[in-house]
Amino acid sequence: MKVCIIGASGKLGQYMVQHCLSRGYEVVAVCRAQSVAKLDHVRDRIEIVPGPTDDREVIRHAVAGCDGVLTVLVPWGVQGYSSGTAQAVLDFAELEARLIFSCGWHISQDGHDRYSRLFIAMLATVGWVARLLRFVDIDDQVEACRRVFATDRRWTVVRGSDLEEGESEGLPVWSRHVGDAILVSNRTRRIDFALFMVHALTDDALIQEAPAIVGCQTDSARRFRGT
Ligand SMILES: NC(=O)c1ccc[n+]([C@@H]2O[C@H](COP(=O)([O-])OP(=O)(O)OC[C@H]3O[C@@H](n4cnc5c(N)ncnc54)[C@H](OP(=O)(O)O)[C@@H]3O)[C@@H](O)[C@H]2O)c1
Repeated sequence: MKVCIIGASGKLGQYMVQHCLSRGYEVVAVCRAQSVAKLDHVRDRIEIVPGPTDDREVIRHAVAGCDGVLTVLVPWGVQGYSSGTAQAVLDFAELEARLIFSCGWHISQDGHDRYSRLFIAMLATVGWVARLLRFVDIDDQVEACRRVFATDRRWTVVRGSDLEEGESEGLPVWSRHVGDAILVSNRTRRIDFALFMVHALTDDALIQEAPAIVGCQTDSARRFRGT
C-alpha cells in the first residue's frame, strides 16, 4: 500500500505517518517547506514533498501512484486553503484510490446532526472572530467537504470530536450523526483520530460515509456497549 499524507508535519499528520509506517505502508508526505524538519525523525523512511498543500502541482506529483490519500483539511487563512486542497486531491488522485479527509463535528453531510446550543454559539463566535482576523475560514472547510460529498470517488470524511493528547486507547467508535448517544462524551485521543483515518483506508464499509468519532474508552462509548 502506498499512501500520501497531506499535512504530514502537523500533530495529526505525524501520528498518521507513525501508524502507516507501523503497518509497513510506503509513505509520501506533503508539508509546508518550513515544516520539513518536523519529519526529521522519519526522513529516511518516507518520501517528503515540500510545498503548500493547496498547490495543485505539489498535490498532482505527490498523489501519483498512491492507493490511498490521507488529507488533513485545515481552513487556514481566507484564500480557500481547505477547498483548494480537497479539489486538488479529487482532481489528481488515482481513480480507485481511497481518499480520507479529516475535519470536525461541525461538518454535516446530510443536515441531520443535532448540535447543542452551546456548540452552535461557540462555532458561530469562533468562526466570526477568526474570519474577521483573516486567520481561519471555517466556511471554507465546509465548502471543501461539500465538494467531497458531491463526488462518486471512494471517499471517507472523518469528523473528529474534541481532541486530547495521551496514549492510544484503541480504535474510536463512530456514528452517523452528532447528537447520537454513543458520541456524548465528545473526546478522542489525537493518536486515535489518526488511527481511525489510517484504518479507514482498508475499511470499505466507510466508503462514502462521514463518521463522527469518539474515543472507545469514553463513558458514552462504554455505556453504549454496556461495559
Ligand atoms: N484541534 C481540535 O480540537 C480538532 C477537533 C476536531 C477535529 N479536528 C480536525 O483535526 C484536523 C487536524 O487538527 P489538529 O488540531 O490536530 O491540527 P494539526 O494536526 O496540528 O494540523 C495542522 C495542520 O495545519 C498546518 N498549518 C498550520 N499553520 C498553517 C498555516 N498558516 N498555513 C497552512 N497550513 C498551516 C500544519 O502544517 P505545519 O506542520 O506546516 O505547521 C498542519 O499540517 C483538522 O482537520 C481539524 O479540523 C481538530
